[in-house]
Amino acid sequence: MAEKITLSVIKADVGGYVGHSSIHQNLIDVAKEKLSKAKDNGMLVDFHVTRVGDDLELIMTHERGVDNEEIHQLAWDTFLAATEEAKKLKLYGAGQDLLSDAFSGNIKGMGPGVAEMEFVERKSEPVIVFMADKTSPGAWNLPLYSMFANPFNTAGLVIDPTMHEGFQFDVVDVYGHKAITLSCPEEMYDLLMLIGAMRRFMIRRVYRKDGEICASASTQKLSLIAGRYVGKDDPVLIVRCQSGMPAVGEALEPFAFPHIVEGWMRGSHHGPLMPVPFYEANPSRFDGPPRVIAAGFQITNGHLIGPRDLFDDPAFDRARQLANEIGDYLRAHGPFEPHRLGLDDLEYTTMPQLMKKLENRFKEE
Ligand code: F6R
Ligand code: MG
Ligand code: MG
Repeated sequence: MAEKITLSVIKADVGGYVGHSSIHQNLIDVAKEKLSKAKDNGMLVDFHVTRVGDDLELIMTHERGVDNEEIHQLAWDTFLAATEEAKKLKLYGAGQDLLSDAFSGNIKGMGPGVAEMEFVERKSEPVIVFMADKTSPGAWNLPLYSMFANPFNTAGLVIDPTMHEGFQFDVVDVYGHKAITLSCPEEMYDLLMLIGAMRRFMIRRVYRKDGEICASASTQKLSLIAGRYVGKDDPVLIVRCQSGMPAVGEALEPFAFPHIVEGWMRGSHHGPLMPVPFYEANPSRFDGPPRVIAAGFQITNGHLIGPRDLFDDPAFDRARQLANEIGDYLRAHGPFEPHRLGLDDLEYTTMPQLMKKLENRFKEE
């Protein structure tokens, strides 16, 4: 049997430069050094370190499968080393996403976001790693639905016999701690009923009907881990492309529509998700608006050939312009909903503290 390769994307915000807008080069250098050693000693086949906004992104290939303790430990140690550097420079929120003192086998539930998949490399293996800042994992629901279930987005669903069967969606209820698999197109309306509620139901994985993995997303919600607001989840997503999976262009197409997501300023505001080239992934206006980058790789014998900066295309200029217009429109609402999140969502912010102060002043009516 052909050997399987695992692609692991693990990320954390371990310190912002300046504020929460971007990352200092030293953190990237520290991470590269750590992963380089792991590549030299054979633990990793290959790696690429990058960032979106203030999030440090470790993209790694190896042969140890998903949820592998050593790989997660390596990521944890890398974030610790980068935190040391962030502390030295007194960068903002140094170590903020590392919610635990000690590593205990799996990095999930400890703060960092994780998306992984294991597969047999195809004759040619194009993948896209999407990485977002100032938003939460529900931000992937609309684009994943579009890529794998919407024939108005993905022409292959209609005209490619290898896609015509449709796909299966593994959806997690992050509040109910349950998951369900729904099959499209047959159960499209059931799927939409759930995933339209982006803060509760999140698409975690997408499979072809023969069981082949197509997409994997991080679904870690920091506020649910910590029980309070400690920064935004800033999720990652891996999508395999071409030959029976969405074409690269079909996987990118949903982002031509900058849909509204949660996570802008203090994690407490809605804003448009703006697709940007790597060099523009520095959310500064009102700490945003939320950003997404797309790093394209050819995986060749486990090696990461790339990345190609896939939103570095003038064809996405209109999406960026629209995002700015939507941004202006929403900003004009100031502290009013629906720019500001609804009360339920503010539960995990500093808002309850302020509400407490007023508690005794409410008179019965
Ligand atoms: C961070 C974020 C930022 C901060 C804001 C206030 O993910 O979204 O908008 O919430 O800059 O940060 P503090 O409270 O640390 O001053
Ligand atoms: Mg930050
Ligand atoms: Mg961030």
